[in-house]
Amino acid sequence: MSGLNNKVAIVTGASSGIGRAIALALASLGVRLCLVGRKLKTLEAVASGIKKIGSDAYIYKVNLEKDEDLRQLKKQIEKDFGGTDILIHSAGDFAMGRMTEASIKDLDRLYRVNVRAPYLLTQLLLPGLKRRRGQVVFINSSVGLRARAQVGQYSATKHALKAVADCLRDETNEDGIRVVSVYPGRTATPMQKTVLRMEGKAYNPKQFMQPEDVASVVISALMLPFSAEVTDINIRPLAKQG
Ligand SMILES: NC(=O)c1ccc[n+]([C@@H]2O[C@H](COP(=O)([O-])OP(=O)(O)OC[C@H]3O[C@@H](n4cnc5c(N)ncnc54)[C@H](OP(=O)(O)O)[C@@H]3O)[C@@H](O)[C@H]2O)c1
Repeated sequence: MSGLNNKVAIVTGASSGIGRAIALALASLGVRLCLVGRKLKTLEAVASGIKKIGSDAYIYKVNLEKDEDLRQLKKQIEKDFGGTDILIHSAGDFAMGRMTEASIKDLDRLYRVNVRAPYLLTQLLLPGLKRRRGQVVFINSSVGLRARAQVGQYSATKHALKAVADCLRDETNEDGIRVVSVYPGRTATPMQKTVLRMEGKAYNPKQFMQPEDVASVVISALMLPFSAEVTDINIRPLAKQG
């Protein structure tokens, strides 16, 4: 039995990629899962994988762009589970374009999904997380530390997400809460497939990190004894792009 057995975790972006891999890894340790996303069918498929592993999973249809969905999510999770021990922010949206032509509409959408939603959801769940000595994980990006051409909108939101995480850690360590930001490089997920298409390159998932690699470092941070805290994780594909 793991130290995380019977804990309750909320995972946004649980329908796909890194969020899905983290949800499955947590389930294998006996964690009870709240799976959050917009597509019920894909969430149901993840939930059924979790039930096969022998853990518990509820699904929640939430559009992170809508405040009302987030407030409803908090209420429903309290009804279903009574509280949360682990909050994983994995959902994210992406756009690309040079600043001369990038769409402001895209920037607003990315801000809502990548920054505002994790901020508001954390705020809503914080009293409960404090009661349970919770842990919060922010899936950021390597470009959340170092921006590069053509990803100004995405990179700006990920820099802001770093600030949210650092601020939260500073404010809540005294309550026993741990906060970790993960900064992955290119990872083989549907989002990376889209990125490659936008860059006009072929997608070969074997060239990249696997979502399970990211899940594995997240799990080790969550399992650490409470005498210590991992604050930031940088993780990159071993094979470098030519
Ligand atoms: N893949 C990479 O190379 C890479 C590298 C660095 C960082 N990241 C970060 O890793 C995280 C996970 O991305 P991924 O690669 O696993 O991508 P993915 O497979 O495309 O998954 C993205 C997830 O975000 C959810 N999502 C997006 N917009 C949403 C919205 N408005 N409301 C609710 N859910 C929404 C999607 O759910 P539905 O579509 O079902 O609603 C989906 O589950 C993101 O924060 C991303 O920025 C990825």
